[in-house]
Amino acid sequence: MTDTMASTIQVQPLTCALGAELHGVQLADAAQDESLFQDIRRLLLTHKVLFLREQQLSRAQHVAFARRFGELEDHPVAGSDPEHPGLVRIYKSPEAPPDRYENAWHTDATWRAQPPMGCVLRCVECPPVGGDTMWANMALAYERLPEHIKLQIAPLRARHSIEATFGAAMPIEKRLALKAQFPDAEHPVVRTHPETGEKTLFVNGFTTHFTNFHTPANVRVGQDFSPGGADLLRYLVMQAYLPEYQVRWRWQANSVAIWDNRATQHYAVMDYPPCHRKMERAGIMGDAPF
Ligand code: SIN
Repeated sequence: MTDTMASTIQVQPLTCALGAELHGVQLADAAQDESLFQDIRRLLLTHKVLFLREQQLSRAQHVAFARRFGELEDHPVAGSDPEHPGLVRIYKSPEAPPDRYENAWHTDATWRAQPPMGCVLRCVECPPVGGDTMWANMALAYERLPEHIKLQIAPLRARHSIEATFGAAMPIEKRLALKAQFPDAEHPVVRTHPETGEKTLFVNGFTTHFTNFHTPANVRVGQDFSPGGADLLRYLVMQAYLPEYQVRWRWQANSVAIWDNRATQHYAVMDYPPCHRKMERAGIMGDAPF
């Protein structure tokens, strides 16, 4: 343990990049205690993802804790608990047809004009081994970019699409209906965190292309546009793959992760044999990236 707070929360950083495990705190208490909640909020801004084990947290308490950060949102593809709107069920089972929604590096719902500010994810049931989740620190990923890349991407904006990702495996009518409901969003490639002021690299698995790459500096001849922009985007998206920016968390039932969606990406590792993995996620509404 390297840090102890006034509120008796003990903080154990898990890697040099991001992530800390909290000890000596129950989120059910923080759901009712403003000063405890504010300690956790401050720790989240510092460590970007917080982990807790052995949480005695009912669904109502899960929602109540997450609601302290802000309003919750449902997900158009993954359903929510009918009795607890905003509590999204991410359930895998041997019987259900396989899907591959989570095992891609992503920042949640950047296809929204206002992507979520963060999430609180609780493990209900997990495989005996496998099914970990990984997070990457996108402020560090930005900070360590070569200076000439930082200069090139400073003015760039990019498109984020639910149609190209969740919609890709749908029949055409369903896919177009999804796109009509959730038109592509456009965001800056480098985002300024609204609370810490840090710059973060804000492209991920939902990003399809740059929208304003076509300048004389970037495009000498038309042929530069597609490979030039696509190669640069691929290079940026791949920064999250670097282990130096990551933390990996092994789940147990009643473990919880809280992450800052403005400063991280994550990846649910689907390496386990057909088996039950039940996660419940409260996504907290955020603001428009700038
Ligand atoms: C997610 O991508 O939000 C879910 C992560 C997980 O199930 O581990």
